[in-house]
Amino acid sequence: MNKKVLLATTMIAVAMLGTTVHAEGEKVGVSMPTKDLQRWNQDGANMEKELTDAGYEVELQFASNDPSTQLNQIKTMIGNGAQVLVISAIEGDSLGEALDMAAEYEIPVIAYDRLLMNSDAVSYYATFDNYMVGTVQGNYIVEALDLENADGPFNLEITAGDPGDNNAGYFYGGAMDVLQPYIDEGKLVVQSGQTAFEEVATPQWKTDTAQSRAENILSTYYTDQNVDVWLCSNDSTALGVETALAANYSGEYPVVTGQDCDIENTKNMIAGKQSMSVFKDTRTLASQVVKMVGQIINGEEVDVNDTETYDNGVIVVPSYLCEPVFADVNNYKELLIDSGYYTEDQLQ
Ligand code: BGC
Repeated sequence: MNKKVLLATTMIAVAMLGTTVHAEGEKVGVSMPTKDLQRWNQDGANMEKELTDAGYEVELQFASNDPSTQLNQIKTMIGNGAQVLVISAIEGDSLGEALDMAAEYEIPVIAYDRLLMNSDAVSYYATFDNYMVGTVQGNYIVEALDLENADGPFNLEITAGDPGDNNAGYFYGGAMDVLQPYIDEGKLVVQSGQTAFEEVATPQWKTDTAQSRAENILSTYYTDQNVDVWLCSNDSTALGVETALAANYSGEYPVVTGQDCDIENTKNMIAGKQSMSVFKDTRTLASQVVKMVGQIINGEEVDVNDTETYDNGVIVVPSYLCEPVFADVNNYKELLIDSGYYTEDQLQ
């Protein structure tokens, strides 16, 4: 079915449902990018539980990292009478058609974690402060190598995220704003010469892609010298770099950053194969979004704390930014186990 026919069919379905679209029932559509990464399963599960506990009906879908699947799933949610949509996009600007439909039926849309781009149909954005994720990683590196006092030079390599995900540029930008002065003064040296976002990006945040790029870099530049630090924007890419280090590198083990505190990465942190991860408690984000959904449905003022940063190309989207923190081997127990995020068994 081509896109136009599909849209027409969905519109007919919506029309046939008639009043259902705007009627009672308080149904919330939640669209998540993929089940492949641990975090989206957690986000989906948290959202479903919290919304259900709050008395809403929930339609939760995962889109197998396929933008057209996600587009169709959202259209179906609209057809099924969702009154609010919560969307974490695979690609920020591939959902225009579904967002137009949402606007037509006056369905408010909350962008979840990742901003929806190039559309004025985005009502709110809830996320962790993405730029701060990058600065937390950058500052961790500054401390770990004592860049203020040590002479260096230290060798740095960089692995960033998916160019289709608006967050990826913020993570990279935040970290590079901290690290660039040290690169400029020669204290940090990138032996591969790959520093531009396009050169270090990892399409779809794929572990395998990060791994093969790291393998190439290690076998080309680090057979007879150490790589001292590897900035990885998140845990799925860090995992690829860590696998490459295990197989293709015999120098001193570098400082490796990450983000999400995924189970595999937390285990690696405990085993000394990853230095830190940025902890974004998905329970906090889910609670915030459920609160926003309630405020929208009840016609109340919606909680936001940033009305300037997130320009999606058409509008500046009112946002609520939660605060990320770093986790490492010294504080993970308190952050992850004592808080009930993981059980000790999960990390064995
Ligand atoms: C999220 C990260 C996640 C990455 C890959 C980003 O949009 O903010 O937490 O690691 O996507 O799924």
